[in-house]
Amino acid sequence: MPNHDGEIFKSKITVYILACWILAAFGGLMFGYDIGISGGVTGMDDFLIKFFPKIHQRKLHASENNYCKYDDQMLQLFTSSLYLAALVASFFASRACSILGRKPTIMMASVFFIAGAALSASAEQKWMLILGRILFGIGVGFGNEAVPLFLTEVAPIQHRGAVNILFQLFVTIGIFIANLVNYVTSMVHPYGWRLSLGLASVPAFILFLGSLIITESPPSLVERSKETEGKAALIKIRGVDNVDAEFEQIVAACEQSRQVKQPFKKLFKKASMPPLIIAIAMQVFQQFTGINAIMFYAPVLFQTLGFKSDASLLSSVITGLVNVGSTFVSIYAVDKVGRRVLLLQACVQMLISQLSIGFILHFHLKETGSLDKVLAAIVVVLVCTYVMSFAWSWGPLGWLIPSETFPLETRTAGFAFAVSSNMVFTFLIAQAFLSMLCHMQAYIFFFFSAWILVMALFVVFLLPETKGVPIDLMVERVWKQHPVWKKFFKDGPNSYEMA
Ligand code: BGC
Repeated sequence: MPNHDGEIFKSKITVYILACWILAAFGGLMFGYDIGISGGVTGMDDFLIKFFPKIHQRKLHASENNYCKYDDQMLQLFTSSLYLAALVASFFASRACSILGRKPTIMMASVFFIAGAALSASAEQKWMLILGRILFGIGVGFGNEAVPLFLTEVAPIQHRGAVNILFQLFVTIGIFIANLVNYVTSMVHPYGWRLSLGLASVPAFILFLGSLIITESPPSLVERSKETEGKAALIKIRGVDNVDAEFEQIVAACEQSRQVKQPFKKLFKKASMPPLIIAIAMQVFQQFTGINAIMFYAPVLFQTLGFKSDASLLSSVITGLVNVGSTFVSIYAVDKVGRRVLLLQACVQMLISQLSIGFILHFHLKETGSLDKVLAAIVVVLVCTYVMSFAWSWGPLGWLIPSETFPLETRTAGFAFAVSSNMVFTFLIAQAFLSMLCHMQAYIFFFFSAWILVMALFVVFLLPETKGVPIDLMVERVWKQHPVWKKFFKDGPNSYEMA
């Protein structure tokens, strides 16, 4: 595959580089595990009895409003505190990434994860539980900042897309494992929830060991003036002796980006707006698909729909598996059919699924009572078709597109913005969902459907296709050619700098 100049950089996929990708992707697995574990835990009776006895009482009264039995601000805080912590932590993580490097930042993430797992698994009081979540959240902030950056920087150019989606693949595997763990631990009384939370330490520990084994990324070394180490690292990860051409390009890119002393300032210049708006919009829309209403609260949601406790955990194990499997579709298709086709196809599939769920619940799930078996099974199938389409589109592309559309000098600052937008909106959805479910009932699905329509229009009119465009040519080939975004650039060869 040609590089930006039409040259070919030789590389082999060695066991070592594969190990680096997979070990680093465990950061994604930690993120996914955290996303997946809380819904199941908050559905466990032993957990509710210990920390949220009032909610447990409400849950016991079958005659109580179906849509409101889990509406509790503290319970929501348990789930969403993680994202607030991650949001704040990602700013510190971006500093750590630049000053110390990706590798130590990944190591710090793993230490926070281990501490969070230990504290929440041994929690006796609510504050210990919340503090444990916050430590997890700091881990997510550090991991999500450093891991995608690391993967992109160590990937050979011709595998960059696939390696990038490895992060999302591990997110989905983490969610799936968490669902599986919850399914088993829900049968272990009275401390199943402790196992669920404590088992996060296993992948966290693998990430810690991984952070000792992986290389530092060559651009991070060169950026910090460690040229010799940078070249040695590049030789090691490419598995060939002659890496001169690629190394020169890294040095040139670093020199250029070193000239931009304040990337955040540059990011807010008019000409930087198109990729910044797209990056933020991709993350905001990713969350307004409503995916995390399903991911966090699948077991709670299925119980709301009248499933028994372990049947609902089983249903969310199924959705978890669909999520993992469909991500492979994305890895396979993203560079063949392009980003826009995947996103638009998914909008249609998500819209049909959400509307159907909304109608079934609206007409068949009253405030008390439950769904009949056939309808409940249809709802599970619809949730699967919905998750499937998310998993090959807005899931991975919410991370991929922001990472490939910025010019080099604003790429890390811009990507940090994408990460923090993800956290803000994940937090908002996590915090608001149970209350929204309580007040809007089945209309919540129509609410998300409306957003899906908006995002389809966004893709049609505003999202340029980036398939096959070398990342360093995005400004010329993509932004300046787009009917809307070209207005952000003045004419002329140096238009990007001047605008
Ligand atoms: C999103 C998460 C979501 C996950 C589901 C990720 O891309 O950022 O919020 O829970 O996909 O697989």
